[in-house]
Amino acid sequence: MPPLFETHKSSVDLDRLMTQRVLIGYGSRYGSTAEVAQEMRNVIQETGAQIDLVNLRKGTPPGELQGYDLVIIGSGIQAGRWTKEPLEFIKKNIERLSYMKVALFVVSGFATDPKNHETVQTEYLDKIVEENPGLKPVATAFFAGVFDFKKYNFAVRRLVKGIVKKQMGPDEEVPDKIDSRDWDQIRGWTAGLLE
Ligand SMILES: Cc1cc2nc3c(=O)[nH]c(=O)nc-3n(C[C@H](O)[C@H](O)[C@H](O)COP(=O)(O)O)c2cc1C
Repeated sequence: MPPLFETHKSSVDLDRLMTQRVLIGYGSRYGSTAEVAQEMRNVIQETGAQIDLVNLRKGTPPGELQGYDLVIIGSGIQAGRWTKEPLEFIKKNIERLSYMKVALFVVSGFATDPKNHETVQTEYLDKIVEENPGLKPVATAFFAGVFDFKKYNFAVRRLVKGIVKKQMGPDEEVPDKIDSRDWDQIRGWTAGLLE
């Protein structure tokens, strides 16, 4: 005789029980975006999800893209542009990404100043979406970045120090490092992606 009551897990419960798989692919010239991506990994790990973190300059994702529930792609901004590897990653995988849950982020020096936020959103995020038809991110974010003058060569240091100096008062010295990353913002955005 069949059991009078069968216990079925609802599909919602099953979804929750299944481990989510997340990929973070990023490009970072001077390392601050790499540290942001590492913190995102920590946040995702804490939720019990599986996470692959890939510096796209150095490697490719270990698994097939369709195996991921969420793909987070990000870059530091240099001279108004993303680094080339995450852009190439998007272009190469656009067909697959077009029906996946994708989130984009940038780490940008100009994002430190709220008066630049609209431009940063338009130029560094919306433009990437426009240039890659089919890409429909569920979320985008810009994070204020780092100026780490000791890491730059002489010419870059002079150029970037000059730009930063213009934003400061005449008597203010430009410090060796300005780190404007808001870790709570970064952690909060990442956690929100998994909800
Ligand atoms: C040569 C150079 C050019 C930069 N150009 C821009 C820029 O055009 N817009 C911007 O928002 N930030 C700019 N920045 C600031 C970077 O976006 C910031 O330092 C960011 O944290 C870099 O990420 P990374 O350390 O992962 O390379 C520039 C920084 C350097 C060193």
